[in-house]
Amino acid sequence: MANQIATNVTWHDGEISREDRYEILRQKGITIWFTGLSGSGKSTIAVALEKALYAMGKLSYRLDGDNVRLGINKNLGFSEADRKENIRRIGEVAKLFGDAGTISLSSFISPYRADRDEVRSLHDAANIQFVEVFVDCALSVAEERDPKGLYKKARAGEIKNFTGIDDPYESPLNPEIHLKTDEMTVEEEVAIIIDYLIKSDTIQTQYMTRASDEFESVAASGSKS
Ligand code: ADX
Repeated sequence: MANQIATNVTWHDGEISREDRYEILRQKGITIWFTGLSGSGKSTIAVALEKALYAMGKLSYRLDGDNVRLGINKNLGFSEADRKENIRRIGEVAKLFGDAGTISLSSFISPYRADRDEVRSLHDAANIQFVEVFVDCALSVAEERDPKGLYKKARAGEIKNFTGIDDPYESPLNPEIHLKTDEMTVEEEVAIIIDYLIKSDTIQTQYMTRASDEFESVAASGSKS
């Protein structure tokens, strides 16, 4: 990770704890980290998962490679050092989201194993759960999909250092979830992730309904008596 440059800085705790925040949100903050080739389906799955979590009354927020590179990381390119810094910054952002109580859905190619492992360590040290999802897709299929026409440009030499073409991608060795997007539907993939989150008690089943639903049912039963 990056070196600490500023000196004489110390972490300042507030009077509201992480647990206090989790309680009002009725959920735990966690990071779901999607990694895979461009065009493998990371963002598509994150969008569908966000909808499914919303329907369950869970607050999530998508941190997406292209979006983040238009804002906080607009000064970074695709060299190994810039990709590393891209992942480091977004790992820190995801950690803050987790501390705040949000389920962050982070979709970045994140091609280097060491960079992903550093984000995992960052989360472990902060005691925030990190779920790595390998969005696995044959390069030939991603290239055929080519939703942004970038593989075509990379093959033509118009884009340099394109992941999978003339830049590496290091597959996860031990991801919590492995999705083969050239063999499954988006619905199946979302169901696998939700199932994992429920079984690992990451999203507590007792908090499945929205606060407003409970409020309405209490109000309704009150009006009957
Ligand atoms: S990462 O490697 O640093 O994790 P990130 O996910 O943020 O990459 O950004 C990848 C997106 O940037 C791709 O989906 C694609 O739209 C775009 N892109 C532009 N140039 C490249 C490139 N050389 N390699 C990979 N993606 C690129």
